Amino acid sequence: MSYHRYDAVIVGAGGAGLMTAIQMAGKANIAVVSKLYPPRSHTGAAQGGVAAALGNTEEDHWEWHMFDTVKGGDYLVDQDAAAILARDAIDAVYELEHMGLPFNRTPDGLIDQRRFGGHSRNFGEGPVRRACYAADRTGHMIIQTLYQQGIKHNVTFRDEEFLLDVLFSENGECCGVVTRELTTGEYHVLHAKAVMIATGGFGRMFKITSNAMAGTGDGVAIPYRRGVPVMDMEFYQFHPTGLYKLGILLSEAARGEGGILRNNEGEAFAARYAPTMKDLAPRDMVSRFIYEEVKAGRGIDGKDYVHLDLTHLPPEVIDAKLPDITDFARTYLNVEPKTQPVPIQPTAHYAMGGLPTDLDGRVLADASGNVIPGLYAAGESACVSVHGANRLGTNSLVDLIVFGRRAGRHMLKFVDDTSHPTMPANPDRPAREEIDEIVARPSGENAAEIRERLQDVMMDKVSVVRNAGGMNEALAEVESLRNAYKNVAIQDKGNIFNTDLTEALECGYMLDLAEALIIGALAREESRGAHYRTDFEKRDDSNWLAHTVVKMKGDKLELTKKPVTVTTFEPKERVY
Ligand code: FUM
Repeated sequence: MSYHRYDAVIVGAGGAGLMTAIQMAGKANIAVVSKLYPPRSHTGAAQGGVAAALGNTEEDHWEWHMFDTVKGGDYLVDQDAAAILARDAIDAVYELEHMGLPFNRTPDGLIDQRRFGGHSRNFGEGPVRRACYAADRTGHMIIQTLYQQGIKHNVTFRDEEFLLDVLFSENGECCGVVTRELTTGEYHVLHAKAVMIATGGFGRMFKITSNAMAGTGDGVAIPYRRGVPVMDMEFYQFHPTGLYKLGILLSEAARGEGGILRNNEGEAFAARYAPTMKDLAPRDMVSRFIYEEVKAGRGIDGKDYVHLDLTHLPPEVIDAKLPDITDFARTYLNVEPKTQPVPIQPTAHYAMGGLPTDLDGRVLADASGNVIPGLYAAGESACVSVHGANRLGTNSLVDLIVFGRRAGRHMLKFVDDTSHPTMPANPDRPAREEIDEIVARPSGENAAEIRERLQDVMMDKVSVVRNAGGMNEALAEVESLRNAYKNVAIQDKGNIFNTDLTEALECGYMLDLAEALIIGALAREESRGAHYRTDFEKRDDSNWLAHTVVKMKGDKLELTKKPVTVTTFEPKERVY
């Protein structure tokens, strides 16, 4: 084991982690730990844009953006956080521009903007152009830009190092992490005054997902196992347009540029459900529209998919603004989007829930809002909560840059004012023992089979539409898989790039998070945003205008409620 001492350790090298790092670079001794080579982080897969009310192509205001975010989140959004998100987005996007991010431009040379689901002018009157974009590879450009800044500012990157544990002092202060180098199997203890979790989401627990292989929720599950709560886990977003059977994302920008969803009769069905916003209604709704069409027998060829039609768009618009996603359709489905409709279905895309934080990224210890000294989170692994029950498209990238930046600034002050807490004795022992036990087991349960059963049951019973019967079945299956996991065995016993071991550990993390997700979903007896229950079809503000907070207490899970912060917009029925 090697010991290292830093002021702060940032786990995750996606947009949130890098934005945090850049605030601290050169001013504190920091390290960024990533299980991947940083530009492979999942932020790089974000396509359509980053929202900011720049008003470059038509009138816009951050207050409109805030309203859309709150309404889009079905009023479960904390409105103080949404105000920061919408206001600071403008400055954060200009900051990216000044770092060199190659945004698409208007003929006048301004950052160009396009339409996206749920983003409206004048508090809901109709779609507005708010998404700043770099073709359909905005996330790729963000990650490249931020990584270059990190290199420029001499940030220490610890690439291909896998998080195994988050450490706490006797007084409950976060004091570092334990990692394992994937190339060698060597263990590292990183002693720090502050730790930022920015490891992204956990879409890999579902069978059909847009998430990269790495989206297994490690950074959320590890502190959760140590007693840190998770919040609003039941709200898991299904993006309406994943490539059929594969889940690969086809950006909402396709509909922002004029693409239309059609059923087996060729009908542009979204207009029937959402007369004002049509195909640009929020994702939770559009995914449900697709579900309803399929249920009514209007899926293509009677199957569980519909078409995304881009054939009426000028070919030059497709080439200039949607080059990657149209290539995906050609490569993976052998469909030419300029002349043929593209088969799509909803795909597991984004966790609205995660580690609860305050407005500066400090992780909360409980529903009363007490913070855990030294522990921070931002991005998809966090829940601040700006997305509430349903995130608007493009607001994930805003979340990363706005709250990654705020957290970085706060962490900088924190590490200046604090000394290193005392670490527990033998800090790497629990992680090492867990791994030794798995490696030593001569035979046992297969992690890949457990993961597949998890993905199947989450997709079948806990996805776009849910009910108590299905979720109880899913819970029973997850419990039985968690039991089986206690006897998990791997074939590769080596230290060098042991993906067998990594995937077994990731599987364990997803099982724990799936359990928390189902517990939250069963408790929440209403429908709100992405959590749609056929047995409780209405939103119930009198009982459920509240966040759910789930904590592991030994073998038991404790669920409490945390009030939603309402500052400006009183909850109303969502109509688009
Ligand atoms: O559709 C998309 O381009 C995805 C954007 C997002 O998730 O924000």
